[in-house]
Amino acid sequence: MSFSGSASAVAAFPAVPPAVSSPTRLRLPDLLHTTDRFADEVLRGCFNRLLPHDGPPTDARWFTRLHADDELDVWLISWVPGHTTELHDHGGSLGALTVLSGALHEYRWDGERLRRRRLDAGDQAAFPLGWVHDVVGAPTLADPATTTLSVHAYSPPLTAMSYYEVTERAALRRTRTALTDGPEGQ
Ligand SMILES: [Fe+2]
Repeated sequence: MSFSGSASAVAAFPAVPPAVSSPTRLRLPDLLHTTDRFADEVLRGCFNRLLPHDGPPTDARWFTRLHADDELDVWLISWVPGHTTELHDHGGSLGALTVLSGALHEYRWDGERLRRRRLDAGDQAAFPLGWVHDVVGAPTLADPATTTLSVHAYSPPLTAMSYYEVTERAALRRTRTALTDGPEGQ
């Protein structure tokens, strides 16, 4: 039997499905720009009213929200060296960060292993959907105990995050999913 479907019949079954639409009108470059803009405002003192009187704590992670609307939330986070977040994703949100001071190590799951990169003051990173990583405060040569400050933006605003572990067979296994309205583990 020969196949003799019409062109319209063939077109009804495209070989490549359409791309999944984005959950937000904002793109990763928009989020990178947003974190850059808010980082500049933090450095100029525009959010000093939100900072602890004596500065961010030196013995614990700390965060505050700088902005929130229906499509975007922006957070300022301080990190102490060695503090980890656990491996996690950002649910249905895109994300980005800019490091203001200090440094971070990011451990990203690339499908086979965790890859580490260092983010120093002024560096940026963007997180598309499906990005699974752990973020850790990193010591700097100038001051090994310094706290790190970073600005993070998420769109749509964070509502849920999943956490993961790497199995003995070098696979990623989801351990739990949690509703969130803040960067407890981001
Ligand atoms: Fe994250």
